[in-house]
Amino acid sequence: MQDYHEFIDEILIEEAQLKKRIQELGEEISRDYDGKEILAICILRGGVMFLSDLIRHIKPLVAIDFMGVSSYGLGLRSSEGQVRITLDLTTSIADRHVLIVEDIIDSGNTLASVIEMLQTRHPASLEVCTLLNKVSRREVHIPIKYCGFEIPDKFVFGYGLDMDEFYRNLPFIGVVDLEKYEAGF
Ligand code: IMP
Ligand code: MG
Repeated sequence: MQDYHEFIDEILIEEAQLKKRIQELGEEISRDYDGKEILAICILRGGVMFLSDLIRHIKPLVAIDFMGVSSYGLGLRSSEGQVRITLDLTTSIADRHVLIVEDIIDSGNTLASVIEMLQTRHPASLEVCTLLNKVSRREVHIPIKYCGFEIPDKFVFGYGLDMDEFYRNLPFIGVVDLEKYEAGF
């Protein structure tokens, strides 16, 4: 694997901007769910950093659970259509206020399948909170209640998002220069 300095195009969202926006989202969610219990469902693996920082700013009671889905192989673009559940929830979501926490919505195919599947389990409510939204790439409509940042159609990494499973630990969101990245192999 390469040092990210070899292929980063630019830092799109700095650590401080992430912190500030995530705090704002947590406060908004806290106001909206005042008096209710939240079940935050993190979509693995990209949503892990976001979930753990976000829930620190949530005041109402909040439980967490994890769901693994795969639509991407090692490639960069969504293999449109079917997503596979690689890890299911261990909690029942029936009559719970479910908040899906996602790293990024691109085509929307992954989340559309997840939402459809979760709706069949009869939650009391179901909302989506995504850190990043690539609006221009949307193929299916996703009702997004909470969004951190709308970003251009660029491949990004860091803060939970990976390049071939690495770099999730970086504290910022960077843009990949794909030519440089691929030249490194
Ligand atoms: P969608 O089904 O096309 O909306 O893809 C959503 C999933 O693709 C996200 O949960 C991410 O895991 C992954 N993804 C989409 N765009 C990017 C990106 O720019 N960097 C890293 N992962 C991405
Ligand atoms: Mg992913």
